[in-house]
Amino acid sequence: MCGIVGYTGNKSAKDVLIEGLKKLEYRGYDSAGVALEDNGKLEICKAAGSVGDLEKTLNGKFNTAGLGLGHTRWATHGRPTDENAHPHYSASREIVVVHNGIIENHQALRDRLSIEGGYEFRSETDTEVLAHLIEEYYRGDLFEALRRALLDVEGSYALVAASSREPEKLVCARKDSPLIIGYGDGENLIASDIPALLTHTRKTCILEDGELAVLTADRVVVYNRQGDILEKDTLEIDWDLEAAEKGGYDHFMLKEIMEQPVAVRETLRQRISAGEGKVSLSELEFSVDELKRVEKIFIVACGTAYHAGLVGKAVIEKLVGIPVEVEVASEFRYREPLLEQNHLVIVISQSGETADTLAGLRLARSRGLNVMAITNVVGSTVSREADHVLYTWAGPEIAVASTKAYLTQLIALYLFAIYLGESRGVLPVEEAMGLVKGLQSLPGKLNSVLNEENVARLKTYCDHLAKWESAFFVGRNLDSPVAMEGSLKLKEISYIHAEACAAGELKHGPLALIVDGIPVIALVTQEAVLDKALSNIQEINARGGEVFAIAQEGFDDVQNQVDSVFYLPPVHNLLTPVLSVVPTQLIAYYAALARGSAVDKPRNLAKSVTVE
Ligand code: G6P
Repeated sequence: MCGIVGYTGNKSAKDVLIEGLKKLEYRGYDSAGVALEDNGKLEICKAAGSVGDLEKTLNGKFNTAGLGLGHTRWATHGRPTDENAHPHYSASREIVVVHNGIIENHQALRDRLSIEGGYEFRSETDTEVLAHLIEEYYRGDLFEALRRALLDVEGSYALVAASSREPEKLVCARKDSPLIIGYGDGENLIASDIPALLTHTRKTCILEDGELAVLTADRVVVYNRQGDILEKDTLEIDWDLEAAEKGGYDHFMLKEIMEQPVAVRETLRQRISAGEGKVSLSELEFSVDELKRVEKIFIVACGTAYHAGLVGKAVIEKLVGIPVEVEVASEFRYREPLLEQNHLVIVISQSGETADTLAGLRLARSRGLNVMAITNVVGSTVSREADHVLYTWAGPEIAVASTKAYLTQLIALYLFAIYLGESRGVLPVEEAMGLVKGLQSLPGKLNSVLNEENVARLKTYCDHLAKWESAFFVGRNLDSPVAMEGSLKLKEISYIHAEACAAGELKHGPLALIVDGIPVIALVTQEAVLDKALSNIQEINARGGEVFAIAQEGFDDVQNQVDSVFYLPPVHNLLTPVLSVVPTQLIAYYAALARGSAVDKPRNLAKSVTVE
């Protein structure tokens, strides 16, 4: 994710852009830049760092510019450096572009432009190809050049471009990444999200996929890909600014839960081929020999990322047949683990900055081991120090309680397990195909888990749950780590004491705490242990516990044994954690809400823990 703002009108474009970019920093904040029209030229000012830093650099400059475009970046292709910050110039410096999304065929376009067109690239970004491509097709009409250029482009984009030869206009296009037009009086704006527009106008228009627009100070024209003019409805925004920053949701956490289908789709993008059942992770830069030599894997992480690691262990052991140990980073670093040369260490960290995880990484590297990182932040310390990096593409996660980052960590682990199995020749094609198809189906299934009716049901359940000071999560097999994650989420934001228990362990202690009415959330998605899970539920029923089951559709016996059941769409049995964790996130969210807790910023906790 990145944030884009464009402005043309009678105010100071610089001020409008800076103010708008600050409102969009939740979409990315590793670098920022603007291009402003100044005496017939487009001047770019950009750097790694925050919008606040950019504002300081711009102090006293370009005060009279009336047209400009700006960008706050969340790095995808290319590290967060000054060169990679947007906007990007074309070769002649007459065209500037800002972009949010991923140009999938950027390498092929880059090769073509540099070999045939002689273009020199100044950055590592996929976006720069757009600037050169538009220039290549430019014959005096920026809109036509953009329209033509997009015919060559595969991938997702929200983009805004300007040309110093037509200094009164901004041209824009959208596919799979948002862009919203703001209609003003003698001014018009374009932005990735509504908060950047609200100070200036409440009259907006949402660009749809495949649409393009041309903005001048007194006119906006929207086109389809063929260049025909479209009639667009306007949308009057009645949200206040705070609600708009959260996309209309009450909290970032809910917004991020709802973003999960897109986050999963982005993390899978370009890495799977469903037809062949293949996973390609060339970005990891492992040789097949290196992958074949791995005898054992250590997964090292903290908090939610540790729980993702537990699922990873089960999946890698099942698909690849090598042993995996999962370690809490703060323990791993001090316990003198038995590391050997053919062991691979995988660290998982959303932020890429967690002190204990980083220390685990350094320990492994100091012993000469290969370290692979799964992280959400390009350019983070973990990503820089690891030998191999697999990014999750969840976009910035703001709520302290991790949701979409966790889900994409699971996806990264599935991808890696399949990739490793395929590279070592131990994963039968049929099995890989089933898994890859299953992965591809997840965004759709997540959407159905997150439908309005389901959310309302979970909310109702939480009115009851919220009255308790204690709750249990139980599950067996792959449901066990999900129970741990569900319980962590509930305790960290609702402050209800929540305990996770491998269901078979109930009788060795926790059963003593089951009293009349106590809420127990039972995860029941694993067919191989269905009977066992049902008998554990009976043990709870017999002590008066009130069971809310999260079960795989088709497990009809569950509903006869529990007080309430939430069925999940059927999915490959190794992939169930991706779906089953979602109701537990919503349970935590609505329980916290019912108890009046500060959902996005729970007491005593921080999003990124950079101290021991
Ligand atoms: C903190 C956060 C958790 C997160 C953990 C690890 O405790 O509150 O949500 O799971 O750190 O963070 P990381 O950035 O390394 O994934």
